[in-house]
Amino acid sequence: MTSNPPPAAEELPGEVLITGRKVQSRINELGRRITDDYLGGSPLLICVLNGAAPFVTDLVQAIRLPTEIDYVMAESYGQGTQSSGTVRLTRDVSVPLLGRDIVLVEDIVDTGLTVHFLLQRFARLEPKSLRVCSLLSKRKTRLYPVVVDYIGFEIPDRFVFGYGLDWSGNYRDLREIRVLE
Ligand code: PRP
Repeated sequence: MTSNPPPAAEELPGEVLITGRKVQSRINELGRRITDDYLGGSPLLICVLNGAAPFVTDLVQAIRLPTEIDYVMAESYGQGTQSSGTVRLTRDVSVPLLGRDIVLVEDIVDTGLTVHFLLQRFARLEPKSLRVCSLLSKRKTRLYPVVVDYIGFEIPDRFVFGYGLDWSGNYRDLREIRVLE
């Protein structure tokens, strides 16, 4: 079996916005904050697929508490330029949220539509607490007034990819976040 070598850094499109080292260092800080905030507890991290998969995997290792991870998948429509987007849940949570400390884990909050929808839905399942942790946040593009409790990096309104975020299905495997020039 033959396999193609990974592209050299100079062959990748765009430029590095956040190095892999900075991503990991910030995740360690977020992990420490979450550990302090939930001391003695056992939070349930709910990862929004696909983009947040690498993030939640590293984040859970940075949290020094017993944790659980569950996964949801959401498709959104009409976001970006419209304020009335809709979201369809294509994979729902698989454990009860009643009485649990929930941390919703996203790779990026852009318009806020996805998180807004998921928070409303999860709130109806009566968790003990409900917070949001996102690696990236584009505050300037927000159309929904969501509170993101733990933010890795505030970034400008530019197209980013890498570390879970795709560009037409590619580059999710990069350790760094890249941006188109
Ligand atoms: C991205 C991202 C968030 C959402 C953020 O998901 O992972 O879930 O968009 O945008 P919003 O704040 O405007 O709702 P995407 O639909 O690209 O799917 P993916 O995670 O599978 O790449």
